Amino acid sequence: MPLAWCDVDLLDKNITDIAERAHGKNKTIRIASKSVRCTYVLKRILERNHVYRGFMCFSGREALFLISQGFDDILLGYPIVNKEEIFDICVATKNGKKIILMVDCEEHLQLINSIAKEVGVTQRLCIDIDMSSDFPGIHFGVLRSPITTVAKGKRLVDRFDSYTNIALSGVMGYEAQVAGLGEMNPANGLKNYVIPLLKKRSIADYSKRRQEIVAYIRSKNHPLEIVNAGGTGSIESSKQEDWVTEITVGSGFFSPALFDYYKQFRHFPAAGFAAQIVRKPKPGYYTCLGGGYIASGPTGKDKQPKPYLPTGVTLTSNEATGEVQTPFEYKGPEKIDIGDAILFRHSKAGELCERFNDLHIISEGKIIDKVPTYRGQGQCFL
Ligand SMILES: Cc1ncc(COP(=O)(O)O)c(C=O)c1O
Repeated sequence: MPLAWCDVDLLDKNITDIAERAHGKNKTIRIASKSVRCTYVLKRILERNHVYRGFMCFSGREALFLISQGFDDILLGYPIVNKEEIFDICVATKNGKKIILMVDCEEHLQLINSIAKEVGVTQRLCIDIDMSSDFPGIHFGVLRSPITTVAKGKRLVDRFDSYTNIALSGVMGYEAQVAGLGEMNPANGLKNYVIPLLKKRSIADYSKRRQEIVAYIRSKNHPLEIVNAGGTGSIESSKQEDWVTEITVGSGFFSPALFDYYKQFRHFPAAGFAAQIVRKPKPGYYTCLGGGYIASGPTGKDKQPKPYLPTGVTLTSNEATGEVQTPFEYKGPEKIDIGDAILFRHSKAGELCERFNDLHIISEGKIIDKVPTYRGQGQCFL
């Protein structure tokens, strides 16, 4: 200890439940590898249910790594402009692998087209369209693609006609303000009352935008293979859009702490870490070695690891989960002492695996195996 664990009984339940949530509207699910970062788990998800098809990854090197590990059908979720990476991806495309690069501006088209030409291949691309909504005084969503209107989308689609070595194969819109924002997160306080309302209005706004851009692309006879939407938190709304062909899901498989706060679903806590009690600073208090694995994004209490088992662990407000020392007050039912393990959950899904070389595989309450994370395979992409 500290060690990372994955309870595969709970993971398998999540895989089944997520497939069930997406059921009924003829959508496939693309696995967001950034929210997993362990090839053993990626394979396990893919092989468990036919609804899972392909991966969304987060860097060019990661895409090439996954190809080297025998994976295929990879959508880069974000633009890349590293020439060597694009070159190697074009070579992989030439070798028959299916990798789709993300673009949102003329510079991306120009760069990829020139490299694809040099390699002698037609490279598949996907346009990222912005799915945020601007309401009076509120930008509801994230800042990613500059394609914020149907007109801008059509303009970029038209630019494909000027290039010889790229194909418009996909369109993606990630509705972060629905997929990645829970309605019951205590850290959001009173905002929780308005979030459901804003979500509802935003869905109406962006789904129309996505529909119109997809219709335009189809009317121009581009070889459109995928229309990608969503994330773990938006399966119910994303699947209602008939023009969407697939939904991306990642975080729901491990179901980290931030995914406890959604109204429409609750998955099982399938991954986390164990830290060992090494001292007792005063009666009723214990201290673990390590534990300070804070998640990315705007910092706040909800970005700390969450104590999981045994129940009755409360972090101290002065130190919370520390770099080397995590003191806590304990009022739980079990007897604990120096040497024992305290289980925590990371607040986000994929970042857990950046902290550990291995995931200890748990089934029926016992550690039965140990598998490498990306980091354990010597890989660190971002
Ligand atoms: C482009 C894109 N699609 C989908 C997702 C959803 O992933 P998850 O299910 O892990 O929330 C993300 C997460 O950030 C993303 O960036």
